[in-house]
Amino acid sequence: MASKKIPPIRRIAINTGGGDAPGLNAVIRAATLSALRRGWEVYGIRRGYGSFLGGEPLVKLTNERVRGIAHLGGTILGSTNKGNPFEIHVKLPRARKKRLAAEIVVEELKKHKIDGLLAVGGDGSLRIAHKFHQMGLNVIGVPKTIDNDLCGTLCTFGFDTAVQTATEAIDKLHSTAQAHDRIMVVEVMGRYSGWIALHSGLASSSDAILIPEIPFEIDSVCRHLKKRAAGGRPYGIVCVAEGAAPKGHGMIYKNKNVKGREPILGGIGKWVAEQITRRTKLETRSLVLGHLQRGGSPTTYDRLLALRFGAAAVRLAAAGLWGHMVSYQPPAMGSVPLEDAIRDTKKVTVDCDTVLTGRDLGICFGD
Ligand code: F6P
Repeated sequence: MASKKIPPIRRIAINTGGGDAPGLNAVIRAATLSALRRGWEVYGIRRGYGSFLGGEPLVKLTNERVRGIAHLGGTILGSTNKGNPFEIHVKLPRARKKRLAAEIVVEELKKHKIDGLLAVGGDGSLRIAHKFHQMGLNVIGVPKTIDNDLCGTLCTFGFDTAVQTATEAIDKLHSTAQAHDRIMVVEVMGRYSGWIALHSGLASSSDAILIPEIPFEIDSVCRHLKKRAAGGRPYGIVCVAEGAAPKGHGMIYKNKNVKGREPILGGIGKWVAEQITRRTKLETRSLVLGHLQRGGSPTTYDRLLALRFGAAAVRLAAAGLWGHMVSYQPPAMGSVPLEDAIRDTKKVTVDCDTVLTGRDLGICFGD
């Protein structure tokens, strides 16, 4: 049987979308060098697809441009989690009527003779990438999110760095909690999945870990802390994911009505701290680690993973596996169809070994 001929690639573009994650620059470097070695031209999309609606959308990526960036946080291309091109209509100068932004992006990519798009992103960005693929664009996805909530891959880059940052922060809080006989409540990121809270909470020996997958009873957390206090330890750490919620309550938002993007979570740490003070009379403080978890240099693990993802994405493109996402299936790099990766959110399974370990160590999950 004659093998299917893969059309040659001359030019690819890389987009970094959604919230940034440590490792983005390592992906850009690996993908660029791998593509240049194949004789392809590489362009980066400046600050997301919105740049195709006005301005200079593309920047040429060369050996020099990606030199010395693998260890840097952020993204040299810029990123945005606003303005989904499938949700906004725009009227370009001299046009008679408004059009779907996504149609304009596809046209512009074709006008710039881009044969393939590497879309680096989390669930939102990969959903957009999948729709572009359905519109006929050649797309490869690369899984990125500090929340680690993407299906189809063992893990995403950015997660290890975020866990490291959160663990180091909680390590520091132990001494001040003990010095003042206080309960410190730390709110970490994790919108629908509690991976960061679970891993950093366990690694840092937190006393309670509250995650979206296990709706909690505040009384159960208070009972646990009161028992510790009665045993001579009126201090402790509660690590709570921003998406965790008490049984029977919804998640707590800073702002529910943000046009064109998901509502902004935040406030559960403060709520938990207030309840503990009211119900136990223990002195309590709360803090939100927030975007610290997205910043800084990627850990060695994330850097390696991101470099491997970038090179693997180019291999998928060379093999014509458009519409797929690179997936880490240790020890190998594999691929899954984009639609499988975005079908669901990857949640912590409540009977997984990490949760069981926490329970065996006497950590309270609030249930
Ligand atoms: O998706 C990653 C994430 O870090 C979430 O945990 C968090 O809710 C969100 O991004 C915050 O995004 P931003 O503040 O950039 O809008």
